[in-house]
Amino acid sequence: MQIVKTVSGMQRLARAWGQAGIRLGFVPTMGSLHAGHLSLVKRARREVGPQGKVVVSIYVNPTQFAPTEDFARYPRDLKADARLCRAAGVDAIFAPTDEQMYPRDEQGAFSTYVVEETLSRAMEGASRPTHFRGVTTVVAKLFNIVQPDVAVFGAKDFQQATIVKRMVRDLNFPMRLVVAETFREPDGLAMSSRNQYLLGSLRTQAVVLSRALQRAREVVRKARAPLPVGSLKAELKTLIEREPDARVDYIEFFEPGTLTPVAKVARGTHLALAVFVGKTRLIDNSSL
Ligand code: PAJ
Repeated sequence: MQIVKTVSGMQRLARAWGQAGIRLGFVPTMGSLHAGHLSLVKRARREVGPQGKVVVSIYVNPTQFAPTEDFARYPRDLKADARLCRAAGVDAIFAPTDEQMYPRDEQGAFSTYVVEETLSRAMEGASRPTHFRGVTTVVAKLFNIVQPDVAVFGAKDFQQATIVKRMVRDLNFPMRLVVAETFREPDGLAMSSRNQYLLGSLRTQAVVLSRALQRAREVVRKARAPLPVGSLKAELKTLIEREPDARVDYIEFFEPGTLTPVAKVARGTHLALAVFVGKTRLIDNSSL
């Protein structure tokens, strides 16, 4: 397994593989890898086959964090990540520095961004106004650097995957995007690098996100007609905030393809949650 740290080195490698007719699968991450990330690696391998190559990028992207967020303390451990990648059969890690990704050279500072203007407004975009501009910009850069045939994203970040899918279509990236399902702890908590922040009882309280999703699925399954959003939202908020350190940021019901909010909840409606557990902000989502 190679660890590539420069943009030109990665582009050279990708071009050589492409010219040899080798299919390339790509999993972009911010590192601090867990079983959720590794499930995406497995999926990428399945997509490109044993003769293909799988690249994982590890880069904590500063432009998707607001100044008040956890960029500085976001967990970083390239050695441990590299061990996990090697064991998972990854062919190359792309782990660039900030200078490589956002150069301030003789020409001046970095000043070109990719902005998706519709799907980015609600939910994560409303709570974190500059977040998706950072995500679409870095993902577009990574696609141009790694030049994959297929990229795998997690349904855990449902809005992100939907936005990136739209960007691939709108900007004609010559590749396919696959969305793989959310990988969970045995108790239901969606795996996340930020789960490391959940100390003591916060870890147990965090299970309430997946319990709320489960409750919503049950209610919808038993309902004989579409349900008004208001009452179900209120019930879920009460259930979540019964945990002493849990505070709802948003609860949204929407159409999965377009992310437009619905007035009535029915089968196939999508539910997304953002909840502060202590100081840690967690997200989860499910089809109902
Ligand atoms: P990160 O949070 O490291 O996630 C990398 C990829 O792993 C994303 O596609 C995310 O949806 C997926 N993922 C995370 N937890 C998962 C889980 N429990 N099950 C399945 N997939 C999971 O998302 C980012 O990084 C960044 O925004 C990035 C796309 C790399 C751009 O910087």
